[in-house]
Amino acid sequence: MKILVTGGAGFIGSNFILYWVKNYPQDQIINFDKLTYAGNLENLKDIEKNPSYSFVKGDICNVSEVDIAMRGVDWVVHFAAESHVDRSIMEPAAFVMTNVVGTQVLLDASLKNNIKRFHHVSTDEVFGQLLLDSDQKFNESTPYNPRSPYSASKAGSDHLVRSYHYTFGLPITITNCSNNFGPYQFPEKIIPLAITNLIEGKRIPIYGDGLHVRDWLYVEDHCSAIDLVLSKGKVGETYCVGGMSEDINNLEVAKKIVRILGKSEDMIEFVKDRPGHDRRYAVEWSKIKKELGWEPLHSFDQWLEETISWYKKNENWWRKVKSGEYKKYYEQQYK
Ligand code: NAD
Ligand code: TYD
Repeated sequence: MKILVTGGAGFIGSNFILYWVKNYPQDQIINFDKLTYAGNLENLKDIEKNPSYSFVKGDICNVSEVDIAMRGVDWVVHFAAESHVDRSIMEPAAFVMTNVVGTQVLLDASLKNNIKRFHHVSTDEVFGQLLLDSDQKFNESTPYNPRSPYSASKAGSDHLVRSYHYTFGLPITITNCSNNFGPYQFPEKIIPLAITNLIEGKRIPIYGDGLHVRDWLYVEDHCSAIDLVLSKGKVGETYCVGGMSEDINNLEVAKKIVRILGKSEDMIEFVKDRPGHDRRYAVEWSKIKKELGWEPLHSFDQWLEETISWYKKNENWWRKVKSGEYKKYYEQQYK
């Protein structure tokens, strides 16, 4: 089996490649990534010499680069995206280009190259927001109602992927997953931002009242969900993937991180809210559990601690990432 992974140098893509190489050493993995600010080949240094892994630097919006990379490939697992809501508010154009146009380029190339499965990695953010203190959850029938340029561009990509199935018969599957956390997450997202800021002696910026709720899933559980959808999922179907059974808000998450690192709650700072900030996400994952037998194996509390240990042990990784381009972004975002 030859698998093209797009965006394999990013957070979830690199965790997925490490997971796949460990569990399916007989398969060939091609990592196709543009290496934007979010792509980091250091995530994959443990397998860079592994003969079943190769890297191709390329842009999913580039028709010929994509076509060449897809020759002889059986499956495409599509992670590549602009993925950060705050950056999509600053500069939406790159989101439309990569997430919408790039996905369409991949879909065309998949038809041309007779790809046997195109798996699209998407987000629960396409469904919009839920009310605080409601017991509603997103599921596969929830109408799309994206509210940020990021989620709108991911919604566009989901619609395109489905349309290529209905119109052209492309064998697709989609997962809409909740917020991931774990090793190699770029420190612009709240959990690694909070951990690394505290280690550096800086405060955790919490938007608005801090009562916004996210559904957290440890990244390895997301990888195992995609694995099951690839092997047992029904072509044309969408599966929602989530991790929490109880709501936890951003302030509670920040307080846990402060406690684990032995710091004071004074290190939490309320800052200006994000425009259009979605109040609450919660995902019902009964379809993937019932049909494919998936469930998350990593609890939030234990794996938050493990994740904090990882960031403590891998200061070199994130200190490098936090210098350079990121510094400019941080100053602009939190000025
Ligand atoms: P990330 O930003 O860490 O990584 C994205 C990767 O895509 C980077 O390596 C980047 O270089 C690459 N990339 C960007 N534009 C590209 C282009 N034009 N051509 C080729 N490569 C390009 O993102 P992530 O958090 O790992 O998310 C991966 C996927 O999972 C995304 O599609 C995202 O929407 C989805 N998702 C993320 C989460 C989450 O919590 N992070 C949750 C659900 C779904
Ligand atoms: P983030 O990690 O950016 O993921 P997403 O926007 O895709 O859910 O943000 C997670 C939550 O944390 C979200 O409610 C916004 C909030 N947040 C802060 O309060 N402060 C911050 O500095 C950041 C980056 C996020």
